[in-house]
Amino acid sequence: MLRTWFRTKAVGEEREGTELRRCLTATDLVFLGIGGIIGAGIFVLTGVAAAKDAGPAIVVSFVISGLACAFTALSYAELAAAVGGCGSAYGYAYAGLGEIIAWIVGWDLILEYGVATAAVAIGWSGYVRDALASVGIHLPAALTRVNIDAIAAWALKAIHHPVPAAIAAKAGSGGFVNLPAALIILMLSLVLASGVRQSAAINGLMVLVKLAVIAIFVGVAAFHVRPGYWHPFMPFGWPGIMRGAALIFFAYIGFDAVSTAAEETQDPQYALPIGIIVSLVVCTIIYIVVSGLLTSIVPYFTLDTASPVARSMLVLGHPLVALLIGVGAIVGLTSVMLVLFYGLTRIFLSMARDGLLPAAFARVHPRTKTPVRVILICGVFMALIAGLTPIAYVAELVNIGTLSAFTIVCAGVLVMRYTRPELARPFRVPASPVVPLLGMAFCMYLMLSLPLLTWLRFVIWLIIGLFVYGLYGRRHSRLAQA
Ligand code: ALA
Repeated sequence: MLRTWFRTKAVGEEREGTELRRCLTATDLVFLGIGGIIGAGIFVLTGVAAAKDAGPAIVVSFVISGLACAFTALSYAELAAAVGGCGSAYGYAYAGLGEIIAWIVGWDLILEYGVATAAVAIGWSGYVRDALASVGIHLPAALTRVNIDAIAAWALKAIHHPVPAAIAAKAGSGGFVNLPAALIILMLSLVLASGVRQSAAINGLMVLVKLAVIAIFVGVAAFHVRPGYWHPFMPFGWPGIMRGAALIFFAYIGFDAVSTAAEETQDPQYALPIGIIVSLVVCTIIYIVVSGLLTSIVPYFTLDTASPVARSMLVLGHPLVALLIGVGAIVGLTSVMLVLFYGLTRIFLSMARDGLLPAAFARVHPRTKTPVRVILICGVFMALIAGLTPIAYVAELVNIGTLSAFTIVCAGVLVMRYTRPELARPFRVPASPVVPLLGMAFCMYLMLSLPLLTWLRFVIWLIIGLFVYGLYGRRHSRLAQA
């Protein structure tokens, strides 16, 4: 039985009439990476991570998370160049480590891309609500957020049960549905369904806008630096830095989505390593500069807000720059959702083609060459989650799922060097096995820095995944059929 579970898929083998359009270049992939990376992590999470966890040493947290991602990105690059096929950590795990591990990685990636997209949509909705309010348009709270207390109060009233004072107080003006969050996901479904070229072009525009806004922030902030704000540098010590690193790891998520574009990329063996590594390097530099400036222009303990970057500009008397940053954040979060949603649909498509998910997911539209059915199903599902749940609270679950997939990618490099030494490797991880081992060690250290509750949620997610595999994938997979 174990041999069945650990059966591997042939390297580079795919397709079967479900072809995607191969039109993306290395530049598109770099933009795709930056589009997927820069978003809620820097525009939202940096504030709380600096105020509550790391202090000004948030810069060190960014370096630690960045190193974990850099080692992993190199491992991704080797596998992307050597394995080909459908790309993604799922595809590499299937080729190198066998079906059961591939299923677990695929299940983790569904968690990563699906929950992250829904969580970012909720952050996006908050930014849009605030931006509209600043120009005098006030959306009703009941339609722009999900308030668990309001729902509980409503349910208790419905069954004629008295509502406890604590719940009634927090129920406030209600909050049953987050309509903007649901609508943006449905709109992105239409963009993705229209074609990968169109999606890449829209993503490219959004990336230019967010890079321009970040450049404006850096230009203005550079004139307000007060070195005194960096004392004390590590107010919460090393544990705080690690907690901060595990939280803002979220900011780096997205570079791996580049690998899911393998089948839509011209010359993927060359373009994928470039897309993955260049986008990560650019974003790491941006993160270190922005977080360093942010904590040196305002005291770190004032940053615990939903929009710390824009707020710092308001505090310094630059309302126009604050407004521009608000716009940049909205655009940035939109591109993150687009790229992660894109990754999610490609993972579903690959898993369906392998028989681990129903074959109905594997259809590609003959004209647009996009998996329209998967896009619409995932879109409706994520819109429901973003619109009806306060899922932003479980964003750390995304981190643990992604970190576990990254650990397996690094392990995949080591295993495949041993099991498939003959494979052509146009890109090789330098200093192997040191770099993949460091990648595994950094990712596991970050996982251990996450709260116990996150671990519990993750274990439950894995158990559900193994059940689904046992009930469906194990018997329907193409390898099992063969
Ligand atoms: N890295 C993405 C963000 O920060 C997920 O929004």
